[in-house]
Amino acid sequence: MTLPNALLNVKELSVHFKLKGFDLSGHLGLSKRREEGVWALKSVSFSLGKIAAPEGAMLKGATLSIVGESGSGKTTLLRSLLGLVPPTGGDVELWGRSLRAMTDEERLAVRRRCGYVPQDPYSSLPPTLTVLGAVTEPWNVVRGGEREKGLAKAKELLAELKLPEELWGARVRYSLSGGQRQRVAVARALVLDPELLLCDEPTAMQDVSTRGEVLEVLNRRVAAGMSMILVTHDLLLARYASTRGAVLYKGEIVESGDTRELLERPTHTYTRALLAALPKLPPRGE
Ligand SMILES: Nc1ncnc2c1ncn2[C@@H]1O[C@H](COP(=O)(O)OP(=O)(O)OP(=O)(O)O)[C@@H](O)[C@H]1O
Ligand SMILES: [Mg+2]
Repeated sequence: MTLPNALLNVKELSVHFKLKGFDLSGHLGLSKRREEGVWALKSVSFSLGKIAAPEGAMLKGATLSIVGESGSGKTTLLRSLLGLVPPTGGDVELWGRSLRAMTDEERLAVRRRCGYVPQDPYSSLPPTLTVLGAVTEPWNVVRGGEREKGLAKAKELLAELKLPEELWGARVRYSLSGGQRQRVAVARALVLDPELLLCDEPTAMQDVSTRGEVLEVLNRRVAAGMSMILVTHDLLLARYASTRGAVLYKGEIVESGDTRELLERPTHTYTRALLAALPKLPPRGE
């Protein structure tokens, strides 16, 4: 369904990749895959708009979870929304404007309204930067003249995300654990107060308690008006973090709707398989 006032409309988006690299033809059926390439997204459509609020109340942001197994197209989808992967078919509209129709400058301006937490902060964060350097970098690029304000904002975010202060001067690439690095990536994505946050498995490397803390930080922003797309392979996390979810399977949205419904009454075979794969604890006393 296309929402007229949506901040995001994804319309029959398809992405095809040609495969590059070594020619392994003849092995494991790879020659066929090489020839045909991969359809990472097939005619994906959805919309994201703010939640209607009673008069005078603050407009809460909308959150949508995209759930799917490895290779289902989740990262490709997020990167396409930012214009980092060109669509083979269909289109993405952000704040009512088609990404295809935008000039490079307009695309950059739209990208600055979006935050992005990449799936792999190790390779996506510049190797020489310190923690504070990584978080303030987007601020300094966009609002160069107010460095002190950016630094204060970065410190506030790192404290909120419970990153120990003794690490703030450390190099992100070499001195941090995976979970700490991921929290730096979240702070970096939030420093410019994005209107839309795209998160690719933002808590995959956190333990149970830090996962809750990161989600709380994100939810506070949503309550204050930020909208969010959360990519995860975990249906329970999707249920906890969002009211709406879509299940991506081999590049297609096979089911979407209320996350509680998806958990309680899955209709697609793949959603049922995802649910069956969730770890189950034995009943107490066993
Ligand atoms: N740059 C690329 N070139 C060729 N194929 C690609 C490229 N990027 C992704 N693919 C292919 O597209 C499909 C979807 O990949 P994608 O990274 O979007 O999956 P994902 O759902 O994010 O997986 P994961 O949960 O493992 O991160 C896969 O088959 C992958 O091999
Ligand atoms: Mg991915």
